Amino acid sequence: QHAEVIVVGSCNTDLMTYTSRLPSRGETITGSRFETHNGGKGANQAVMARRMGVGVAMVACLGDDWYGSDYVKSLCDDGIDCGSVRRDAGAATGVAQICVEEAGGSEGGGGGGNFIVIVPGANYLLSPEDVAAATNRLKDAKIIMCQSEVRPEATLAALERGRAAGMTTIFNPAPAQADLPDRYLELSDILCPNETELALLCKGDIDPEDDESVIAGARELLARGAKNVVVTLGSNGCMLVSSTSEGCQRFPADKVYATDTVGAGDAFLGSLGAYLARGMALEDAIGKAVRVASVTVTRAGAQPSYPQGGDLPPDLHLPPC
Ligand code: RIB
Ligand code: NA
Repeated sequence: QHAEVIVVGSCNTDLMTYTSRLPSRGETITGSRFETHNGGKGANQAVMARRMGVGVAMVACLGDDWYGSDYVKSLCDDGIDCGSVRRDAGAATGVAQICVEEAGGSEGGGGGGNFIVIVPGANYLLSPEDVAAATNRLKDAKIIMCQSEVRPEATLAALERGRAAGMTTIFNPAPAQADLPDRYLELSDILCPNETELALLCKGDIDPEDDESVIAGARELLARGAKNVVVTLGSNGCMLVSSTSEGCQRFPADKVYATDTVGAGDAFLGSLGAYLARGMALEDAIGKAVRVASVTVTRAGAQPSYPQGGDLPPDLHLPPC
């Protein structure tokens, strides 16, 4: 299937431990289980988009190790175009060490709090040249999406090439970073931070807990060049603030019992990209993508928790080509 969505980003092997609560500094605790899954924000978004039913190409760099081989096989099994996934002989595949607090943990409610430590390895070897080769090969794509788990030059190349080719550019500035040059915002048709990422991106003082403050932050990012800002708000869904309209639109999330929120933001982005690739209006696509993401927090892991589009309620199915 030809690529409608290009994802330029990371592949990590997620080494996941599940515990009744998160350990504190210097503390050793005993976990209840350990699982190894394919993750990384880039690949998670690619897999979610693909499972919705669109053609997806992944642009990434993996190590020439067992994790890398296993990763390529799994992307191919999902039906993703891996023609732009490079293996680097000198590098190790990226890993993410993840600790997930199980239901009933110290956060109360469904638990599902987590922390993540990433070692990027081969992800940081993805180059602007790799990106250029991929976008030249995949000219017909509608959407290009990227995150901040590869080197900034590679992300910038993706946004620049995508913009030049007339694709819709989606930038998820995660993990959080301060001092992002405005160029990234100017090249973003849809900038999609969560509330904490938003607070770090803004020059003004933003309180991520306060709605009015989040809206003011989104307005700042519009003023600095983004066309649309979609702020994801965890269990509160998300909000859209656009340069073309006043005020903001809110999209509540379904109330679910969250057991593992790792990769929920990626499920939102991947399904958003898929809907937009099929020409859906941004507001409609956001409303549906929020609901796809809520399905994934009720199941363990990132990619293993992503549904096949056909298994979702009919009103969430993808429009045909
Ligand atoms: O967004 C979730 C992802 O962040 C995980 O899969 C992990 O690899 C980290 O990159
Ligand atoms: Na999940």
